[in-house]
Amino acid sequence: MIVILDFGSQYSELIARRIRETQVYSEVISYRTSAEQLRQLSPKGIILSGGPNSVYDDAAPQCDPEILLMGIPILGVCYGMQLMVQQLGGKVTRSQRGEYGKAELHIDDPTDLLTNVEESSTMWMSHGDSCQELPDGFEVLAHTDNTPCAAIADHQKHLYGVQFHPEVVHSVGGIALIRNFVYHICDCEPTWTTEAFVEEAIREIRAKVGDKRVLLALSGGVDSSTLAFLLHKAIGDQLTCMFIDQGFMRKLEPERLVKLFQDEFHIPVEYVNARDRFLARLEGVTDPEEKRRRIGHEFIRVFEEQSKILGPFDYLAQGTLYPDVIESADTNVDPKTGERVAVKIKSHHNVGGLPKDLRFKLVEPLRKLFKDEVRKVGRSIGLPEAIVRRHPFPGPGLAIRIIGEVTAERLNILRDADLIVRQEINRHGLYKELWQAFAVLLPIRSVGVMGDQRTYAYPVVLRLVSSEDGMTADWSRVPYELLELISNRIVNEVKGVNRVAYDITSKPPGTIEWE
Ligand code: XMP
Repeated sequence: MIVILDFGSQYSELIARRIRETQVYSEVISYRTSAEQLRQLSPKGIILSGGPNSVYDDAAPQCDPEILLMGIPILGVCYGMQLMVQQLGGKVTRSQRGEYGKAELHIDDPTDLLTNVEESSTMWMSHGDSCQELPDGFEVLAHTDNTPCAAIADHQKHLYGVQFHPEVVHSVGGIALIRNFVYHICDCEPTWTTEAFVEEAIREIRAKVGDKRVLLALSGGVDSSTLAFLLHKAIGDQLTCMFIDQGFMRKLEPERLVKLFQDEFHIPVEYVNARDRFLARLEGVTDPEEKRRRIGHEFIRVFEEQSKILGPFDYLAQGTLYPDVIESADTNVDPKTGERVAVKIKSHHNVGGLPKDLRFKLVEPLRKLFKDEVRKVGRSIGLPEAIVRRHPFPGPGLAIRIIGEVTAERLNILRDADLIVRQEINRHGLYKELWQAFAVLLPIRSVGVMGDQRTYAYPVVLRLVSSEDGMTADWSRVPYELLELISNRIVNEVKGVNRVAYDITSKPPGTIEWE
């Protein structure tokens, strides 16, 4: 395993992903981790991440200095390199000219760390500070026009540093450098494979659960579906999947999901029809947050009631993923002592905030995985491509795509419009390219004319976006002909809609969903 000590870089997660792409397991942990704690993890290598601070600031995060003396190979990246230099007696100062963006790397020593990295490779820089004096034992491996110490090493002690970011895609040769560090310097074997993960996860689930019963709230998304497959493989009918139909799913989705799991995958699903009670809870509610709150509460109530009827259960399976674990770990520092407190686990959104008295123990077999790794696992254990590649769908479903009050009439209208959007996006081969594609119903009416008749009906807004991770997004430049086709079909086929608009707002400043 390679451990990444996180000093607050936006790229720490990306470093972990890049290392895992070399089939070596990697974890991000707090920079506060002591040498003693680190030793217990037995890493074969350590990466000191970048970070937003200057090493000479009073409040600059420092790592336990003993870590640098443990004899484990270390690679410092940007801030991580500067910190290593400073802690070992070198000197870091503010550069006359910072370096942001692409820079050409000139190689002075093409051996171990820089093997297979080509002379004049483009590397991605983002720093205002530079190393002025290197500690004893270090030499320069590469420089750029503005940075004399762009890559450094103390070969004897296996300590390395790079001022650039090898993990970002713009760094040509960055992956080669990471592979050199992981395979040649740290001597890791490429054993982190999907198959190995599945085998290990099944073993762990069986060992943990024994002959006890496990409850899983299935939503039909890739995480809960993968979880269902994995648990079913591990413990068979000790697993109960509960699917709560709150009435805000897309057209025919609940029926299809249950049928698919039962008939094709032979995984039984307890279908709970709670449509009426969810709709009743939303009567007269127009505020988006209030809608979410009520849906969340109702979900918990139904979940509680049903788990008593179907139970008792000892374990609750949750689709917690690795980014949730990192996020919560990082924010869980006691402000008084600066100590890391127990890692808080985010709940699966569909089980958001289960009450404390529902005393389940947790099984979270996906907690080591990134989303793309979950997809690989799902695929490898037989999850169909349609689920693996499914667009994200929010827990509160169509209820947050109907602006204003949610009514049965509006739900039916939106379901029909949404189906047309999905059909046409699929027909035009765009599903994979888009992050999400859906319709939003506005609670206003506008005038139109159809066959000499005046209409006065709802508008629908199309929201088609491209995104890498949902954090930022852009509206998709799909062909006008496709927009025209979707608009024509919706206005002609969906009773109650007489106008279609296209949302051309990116995120930020907009969000992907409208509520
Ligand atoms: P926004 O609208 O914040 O959405 O740009 C970012 C991504 O998150 C999804 N989303 C949700 N997912 N529960 C979820 O599980 C929710 O309440 C929720 N709200 C938004 C959204 O679809 C997009 O992919």
